[in-house]
Amino acid sequence: MKALTWQGKQNVSVETVPDPKIIEPDDIIIEVTTSGLCGSDLHLYDPLGPFLHPGDVLGHEPMGRVVERGSDITNLQLGDRVVIPFQIACGSCFMCERGLQTQCETTQVREYGMGAALYGYTDLYGAVPGGQAEFLRVPHGNYNPIKVEEGPSDDRFVYLSDVAPTAWQGIEYSGIQAGETLVIVGLGPIGEMAARIALLRDVRVIGVDLVPERLARSASLGVETINLKDGDPVAAILDKTSGRGADAVMEAVGMEAHGSGVAEAAQKVVGLLPKALSRPVMTHASTDRLAALNLAFQAVRRGGTVSISGVYAGAADPLSMQMIFDKQLTLRMGQANVKRWQDDLLPLAMDDADPLGLETFATHHVPLDDAAAAYAMFQKKEDGAIKVLFQP
Ligand SMILES: NC(=O)c1ccc[n+]([C@@H]2O[C@H](COP(=O)([O-])OP(=O)(O)OC[C@H]3O[C@@H](n4cnc5c(N)ncnc54)[C@H](O)[C@@H]3O)[C@@H](O)[C@H]2O)c1
Ligand SMILES: [Zn+2]
Ligand SMILES: [Zn+2]
Repeated sequence: MKALTWQGKQNVSVETVPDPKIIEPDDIIIEVTTSGLCGSDLHLYDPLGPFLHPGDVLGHEPMGRVVERGSDITNLQLGDRVVIPFQIACGSCFMCERGLQTQCETTQVREYGMGAALYGYTDLYGAVPGGQAEFLRVPHGNYNPIKVEEGPSDDRFVYLSDVAPTAWQGIEYSGIQAGETLVIVGLGPIGEMAARIALLRDVRVIGVDLVPERLARSASLGVETINLKDGDPVAAILDKTSGRGADAVMEAVGMEAHGSGVAEAAQKVVGLLPKALSRPVMTHASTDRLAALNLAFQAVRRGGTVSISGVYAGAADPLSMQMIFDKQLTLRMGQANVKRWQDDLLPLAMDDADPLGLETFATHHVPLDDAAAAYAMFQKKEDGAIKVLFQP
């Protein structure tokens, strides 16, 4: 089959790789019909290279149809239309029972001390082949797939894999209530989807980014936007919140934040080291760019909550504990527990009124053959790219 593979720093290509096979009796194989390109993939494209190998298949936002079933599969038929959550969970362990599917004790990657395995996301998360491919093996096939109805386009459902539950969890973890003010730092797919969810809940949303098309699209939804390039964003937020700061801040940027010079240099140096040296640096030093996170801590009011959806991986990042402690902040974060939010999100996706605007969320539909160029475009934020979907 054809699949998008990692080949090196900022180098991905579509190659022919072996077809996936059923290994466990509760595996299924899906034929992928749509697969998202995520801001998380950009971290693989560049800073997380030390944990990848040439030929690794990327992608973790797939949907498609069941084309093979292991002998223990009881609740799916061949041809069923399914969305696959980006993490692999068992559905029955201590963590899964508590709605913490990204901490699943059956699939945890203990070798690296990490949580549940993820598709297409480095050795740290189990080195599982990803879903930017024609076919995908799905373990724990009685639990993970989200079965969706026939009729509406893939665009209505594919975000159930990652973007929608990540945004939903980010809002839930922020604790924001109707009438309160939420700042969203980063208006990529995750930040913008979170804004859509917050606006549906009658929350006042202030959004910060530096890409004109992204600011404009969020503004058209009713977000009060602040361009990082217009000067001090903290001052602008305090100005809009009686000098107090926002009730909660959701951070949707992650480790490659713009405006973190020293850490950007550190990431570049790590990228030049051989794997044997770079891995220990990544896991013991500060390599995250923290500008967006620091903005979140500054923009939130005393006693407020910072909800972190952006992905971080540095093991020793310098944070201002003085500020976090003195402001009495609540922090919540982590990979989204996709199945935890399925029952909240499925009705919104099924609703023909399309309250989240899923039908028109993608800016680019791209054949899998052109995926390499799409990675470069999405990273550079060219051509108004906000969300890219691949069609194998
Ligand atoms: N927690 C999860 O389960 C989960 C799931 C999916 C994605 N993510 C993470 O969420 C983050 C966002 O994902 P995305 O797909 O929207 O990616 P993205 O890269 O398209 O979006 C990030 C946005 O942040 C903006 N930005 C950069 N530096 C900034 C700064 N200093 N201040 C304000 N804005 C800044 C960028 O211009 C961009 O629009 C990534 O870190 C991704 O890995 C987490
Ligand atoms: Zn993703
Ligand atoms: Zn589990």
